[in-house]
Amino acid sequence: MSGLTAPKGTFDTLPPDSTRFLGVRDTLTAPLRQAGYGYIETPAFEDTAVFARGVGESTDVVQKEMYTFDDRGGRSLTLRPELTAGLMRAFLEHRLYSGALPVKIWSVGSAFRYERPQAGRYRHFTQVDCEALGVDDPALDAEVVALGVQGFRDLGLTDFELLLTSLGDDTCRPQYRELLVAYLAKLDLDEETRRRAEINPLRVLDDKRPEVQAQLGDAPLMVDHLSDSTRAHYDAVRQHLTDLGVAWTEAPRLVRGLDYYTKTTFEFVHDGLGAQSAIGGGGGYAGLSAALGGPDLPGIGYAVGVDRTLLAVRAEGLDVGASAGVQAFVVPLGAEAKRLAVRLVGQLRQAGVAADTVYGDRGLKGAMKAADRSGASHIVVIGERDLAEGVGQLKDMSTGEQTAVPVADLFDALKRATVGP
Ligand code: HAM
Repeated sequence: MSGLTAPKGTFDTLPPDSTRFLGVRDTLTAPLRQAGYGYIETPAFEDTAVFARGVGESTDVVQKEMYTFDDRGGRSLTLRPELTAGLMRAFLEHRLYSGALPVKIWSVGSAFRYERPQAGRYRHFTQVDCEALGVDDPALDAEVVALGVQGFRDLGLTDFELLLTSLGDDTCRPQYRELLVAYLAKLDLDEETRRRAEINPLRVLDDKRPEVQAQLGDAPLMVDHLSDSTRAHYDAVRQHLTDLGVAWTEAPRLVRGLDYYTKTTFEFVHDGLGAQSAIGGGGGYAGLSAALGGPDLPGIGYAVGVDRTLLAVRAEGLDVGASAGVQAFVVPLGAEAKRLAVRLVGQLRQAGVAADTVYGDRGLKGAMKAADRSGASHIVVIGERDLAEGVGQLKDMSTGEQTAVPVADLFDALKRATVGP
């Protein structure tokens, strides 16, 4: 060992387990691709202002968790703590809003948060992100939520739940906020909680401490104070979700960690994960575009944590994306056979057959072990005596049957055996 390790709160994803990570990631993105969402890739770092203005100055994410640094040109940059703000920045910079709306996009990649690491909570993690921008339509909210659900269902997950609420908007949240502030003012709260309440009183509803929760029993809830328009919007979202066969749990105290949410807001939680139970979350954000200097356009989206979803897949004992290994494995003995093996493997790969051989001087025993481990359904051994006779020994691992095949026919025989004629 070199003494160097992955930074605290990060981890390496190694083969063969990494195929499960890829399987989860790709299964989560498949519904988005199928629904015609366009792939978009933005940098893993942005001007710090993108997140300070986008995610919200008062959030833990911006205040405590960002990896912010000055580059050598004196620019303040931040490793993205989430993907939405950067995607919105790109949407505005490239004026994607001047074409047909909504603009539907998805992305997948690294996010970085300086959090206290624990199971399911890391400093580097991967999100699959979906956004639908530029149109305010409850049917679109329902589509986005349903696409998230679809990804989990396709993985075979069953022990997850959709938590749903509405956080209102400019037409009702300011009045509700006043109500809540007045309510909180009467409670017995410590200094820090009071300070938090001043910046964002909703956050207090989310306080996990029992002594705080005990005082919040009859706290006013946003859903009971929605304006007519946001109430109608929320009703329509639920109607569409019912039509789409998506079940949910009303979560009137749901508070998200990012400040941009308005109206429909949701989280996906999984039973098998302990404290870090959120495998995904999202919602509408009417003000994000304007906060980043763009036109007044709404958006809705979600992000799913790939790493946490992988933990959920494990917790349910599902086998996703297990490595299939190779189909054919060639074991050469001696220099001449080796040349033949390398050529044969090259040809097989070009023909779409997953094939491999041994490298380095392994000897027969080591080579056979490697062949075994490769998972190949067909193995060819080319020994010196075989070569003298112009054949290789083709073994079908499922039947144990072994046949001598002329060297010139090995390619065809392997191709036929693995992918058919
Ligand atoms: P978020 O709830 O902050 O939302 O993160 C979404 C998901 O990312 C979480 O549910 C969780 O699965 C995963 N995640 C977050 N932090 C960590 C961490 N430290 N370690 C491992 N996984 C983590 C957002 O990021 C919003 N941008 C979602 C969104 C998109 N809203 C609208 N559009």
